[in-house]
Amino acid sequence: MIQDINQADAQLREHPDPHESGTPVPRTVIAVVSLALLWAVGYIFMAHPSADPSLGDSRTSKELMAQAGGGAGAVDGAQIFGAQCAACHQASGSGVPGVFPPLAGSEWVNGKDSLAANILLHGISGKLTVKGQAYQGAMPAFGDKLSDAQIAAVLSHVRTQFGNSAGKVDEAAVKAARESTKGRTTPWTGDDELAKLK
Ligand code: HEC
Repeated sequence: MIQDINQADAQLREHPDPHESGTPVPRTVIAVVSLALLWAVGYIFMAHPSADPSLGDSRTSKELMAQAGGGAGAVDGAQIFGAQCAACHQASGSGVPGVFPPLAGSEWVNGKDSLAANILLHGISGKLTVKGQAYQGAMPAFGDKLSDAQIAAVLSHVRTQFGNSAGKVDEAAVKAARESTKGRTTPWTGDDELAKLK
């Protein structure tokens, strides 16, 4: 019995058994992780999560359409030139001797803006003299294919590139030319007819 009591005293004097308690996470770690999370969420929103993912970046389809020259917005004359004219008149605007006349330094390109607009609207067939050389080809009409704004843009491009400096063409000038030749269904016959529009 005595021994029991002594044993209990001895036990009471003991420290409690050590046990595992939660080790607090250092504040700096919490701060760094929270900042990283905040940044990640912010980043997702800055990357326009609601934009059309098939576009691959933050450009909207409207912006892309405008670049292609097909939709609303700014029309790109250089792009239209590359797609509609360069095959014949060449990317440099120098044409192909004897086959496609040059746009560089051409008196038709650098003349009145209404003259250039009329050529694009209706095309040409028959003999045409460009920079002293005669051509006997066919220039397609673009009146049905391109809008007034597109014709103005491509003419503005052509008249300010390839060493030309005739200045830009307004959409209104193309509209007026289209209006005044409304009844026309055939291409200009070449020198004779176009000389009158000079
Ligand atoms: C299928 C080939 C072809 C395409 C495409 C073409 N042209 Fe032409 N273009 C010609 C030919 C050929 C002539 C000369 C016509 C003739 O001999 O009667 C010409 C003549 C011209 C002329 C008057 C002559 C000169 O050299 O200045 C202009 C201006 C012109 N084209 C601008 C354009 C523009 C701008 C485009 C694009 C929107 C274009 N052409 C697309 C073949 C083409």
